Amino acid sequence: MKFFIDTANLDQIREAEDLGILDGVTTNPSLMAKEGISGESNILKHYVDICEIVDGDVSAEVISTNYADMIIEGEKMAELHENIVVKVPMIKDGVKAIKYFTDNGIRTNCTLVFSAGQALLAAKAGASYVSPFIGRLDDVSTDGMGLINQIREIYDNYMYDTEILAASVRHPMHIIECAEIGADVMTGPLSAILALLKHPLTDIGLEKFLADYQKVNA
Ligand code: E4P
Repeated sequence: MKFFIDTANLDQIREAEDLGILDGVTTNPSLMAKEGISGESNILKHYVDICEIVDGDVSAEVISTNYADMIIEGEKMAELHENIVVKVPMIKDGVKAIKYFTDNGIRTNCTLVFSAGQALLAAKAGASYVSPFIGRLDDVSTDGMGLINQIREIYDNYMYDTEILAASVRHPMHIIECAEIGADVMTGPLSAILALLKHPLTDIGLEKFLADYQKVNA
């Protein structure tokens, strides 16, 4: 399973990259705003900065909601760097834009996906990635992981190339369950990735090994 980090924070992207396990980055307008990045040229420059840190796909989200403007915005983003994937919302004009980008060799990530029907449409339009939002479904008492399962089954039935990018990951169990189901990618915060490292028996075991070494090597 590929690991993407879901942030626009350059320090956190560097930290995940330094760990040697990072395959890509996803951003969205809220994450850019959180870092105080505003204005078209600053936003575009920030995407380039991210691409220079990580050697993997970087999702850049359009803010236009009509077809014509999405195309202009997405083409501008795609020209920034070969690793840019244009992130397009699951709305009617978005599906049309994904089809256009696919036909013109621009890779896409269909975002804000909350149902199997939406995921099916994204695959039919040729999206490179589909982003079902697990955490936000869980937030409204709906089984986010169940959706990942459903999409996996549908995509396998028809051998769609679209990769399932499990998004809105909140904690390590989300990551583990995605891996069990067979999501192609997960995107989550650095905290969820680092939480995979932790086990109290590892800490206790290491402490004992070091103490035993000291006993005879002091
Ligand atoms: C996906 O690409 C989104 O950026 C993200 O995963 C949304 O996560 P959130 O629900 O934690 O905001």
